[in-house]
Amino acid sequence: MAGEQCVGAIVCKLDMHKKMTRRGYIAMLAVDQHYRRQQIGSTLVMKAIQAMIEDHCDEVVLETEITNKAALRLYENLGFVRDKRLFHYYLNGVDALRLKLWLR
Ligand SMILES: CC(C)(COP(=O)(O)OP(=O)(O)OC[C@H]1O[C@@H](n2cnc3c(N)ncnc32)[C@H](O)[C@@H]1OP(=O)(O)O)[C@@H](O)C(=O)NCCC(=O)NCCS
Repeated sequence: MAGEQCVGAIVCKLDMHKKMTRRGYIAMLAVDQHYRRQQIGSTLVMKAIQAMIEDHCDEVVLETEITNKAALRLYENLGFVRDKRLFHYYLNGVDALRLKLWLR
């Protein structure tokens, strides 16, 4: 928040994957364009990961457009690695990259 105004948001969840892995998923991350490059996005991701660690999460995954340089850099700076390329993943036909962070 910046005063009363919401300038950034993250949506995530933690589920069981294949009955053995506690997998976190980041579904959405967005920062108001007037507030970008101030580490708000990175801070939101770190807070989400911290909450997942407290809930015994094993790994965190997400998808991002292969063309989204800002998001790729942000997540790779935090230790995420490129796991899979998902062809024509989005309705606009753009490929996605599945990024993954192993916590243990
Ligand atoms: C991606 C997004 C959330 C980044 O938010 P942010 O608060 O600006 O990110 P941060 O300030 O934490 O940036 C962390 C690092 O990511 C990289 N980065 C962020 N924006 C960048 C850009 N426009 N170009 C290149 N690198 C960028 C930089 O390495 C940056 O570190 P630096 O500023 O020290 O160089 C924001 O640009 C956004 O809301 N974009 C539209 C929605 C979106 O693409 N969401 C992600 C979907 S997976």
